[in-house]
Amino acid sequence: MPSIFALSLIALGSLSVRVAAQQSTYPATPLASKHFAYPTGIPYKVDTEDHLIRGRQAGYNICNSTTEGQESLCQTSFLNSLEDFCLWAPIKPGSEVGNVEGDMVAWCTKPGHGTRLIPANALEGVQFIKTPDYVQVAGFVDQTKINIMEGDWGGEMDPHGADLRGNPMGGLFYSNAWSSDKTKYQQVIEWHNFIGGNSFCLKACDPAGPNAAKYCEHIFDRIGCQYNAPNNAQKGTFETCDGENQDFPGHYVENGVTVTYKQPAESLGPISTMPYDARIPASSNCVSHTSSVLYAALATVIAPEDNKPTDTPSTNTGSSGGPKPTGSAGGTSGSSTTGSASNPGASSEAGTLAMSGAATILGVVFSALFFA
Ligand SMILES: *[C@@H]1O[C@H](CO)[C@@H](O)[C@H](O)[C@H]1NC(C)=O
Repeated sequence: MPSIFALSLIALGSLSVRVAAQQSTYPATPLASKHFAYPTGIPYKVDTEDHLIRGRQAGYNICNSTTEGQESLCQTSFLNSLEDFCLWAPIKPGSEVGNVEGDMVAWCTKPGHGTRLIPANALEGVQFIKTPDYVQVAGFVDQTKINIMEGDWGGEMDPHGADLRGNPMGGLFYSNAWSSDKTKYQQVIEWHNFIGGNSFCLKACDPAGPNAAKYCEHIFDRIGCQYNAPNNAQKGTFETCDGENQDFPGHYVENGVTVTYKQPAESLGPISTMPYDARIPASSNCVSHTSSVLYAALATVIAPEDNKPTDTPSTNTGSSGGPKPTGSAGGTSGSSTTGSASNPGASSEAGTLAMSGAATILGVVFSALFFA
């Protein structure tokens, strides 16, 4: 038998090499196919395979009062309402999203989820919107208060990634937005979270919706909230709205025909023009709230002190390490510098996330997004 194996290995030659490489990149089960009932079905860690190329899951998924606090490595997240949601953000101060997206942890607006808490006054405007197919929060954040390097134009987190382990690896999402009993949480299978440039958007698609994967599309990682989650969040406003669905990200109408945008490879340089502006869907029944009331529990949460970039380029500040399947480390600082320089504070200065026009896209160079 060994000789037969040897012969077939020789005969298959490069194929066997390719198979071996795949085995070290992809998990047996993609993250988006791992489903766990909340809370009792959740394992300590969702991503447990050793020897995968991106290293091990940075945190854990069973989160409770013993894990809660600013050292938490909880990777089980929520989007319930304007006052109760979590963003993915880095473990260590001054991180660049593109370098640590695989190791992000949950930062929430209220205690009770076993996570870190978003420091007081970090949120500068949030719109929660519920539409037929998803719930979404979008808004403005002082990103240095949640460990993101100043000036970083950021990137995308979602449960896919090029190696199907998700960003963060092993990250789970739950919501009670579709439950009449608000103590019951459903796993959100399709979601995406863009963060950077002091703004964010987080969309959780209704798992019962037929188009969850389309509304929460994960392949347009370089064109930001403006195209993936077009919204009319305003700086200084904290509101809950109903809304119509967006168009599927990347889909637009040209001469009466629906076209799908093709995102250029990062190796081709910054995206300088876009063939379309994404339509911002109508919102209605908006109710405004006072942030100090909404986020009262955050009043005593202090932002991390050291938020300067670390002196060594942070290729994997988060944790486990391991080379990435393709090179993306080098592009990060270059493109984020370009982004912020050519479009200083596009979204925040305008006071709205609804940036329009092709020029602004220069600022939305979501860098190093191999793993979107
Ligand atoms: C609390 O979370 C920790 C860390 O995940 C876990 O080890 C522990 O078993 C949990 N406790 C309970 C009571 O679930």
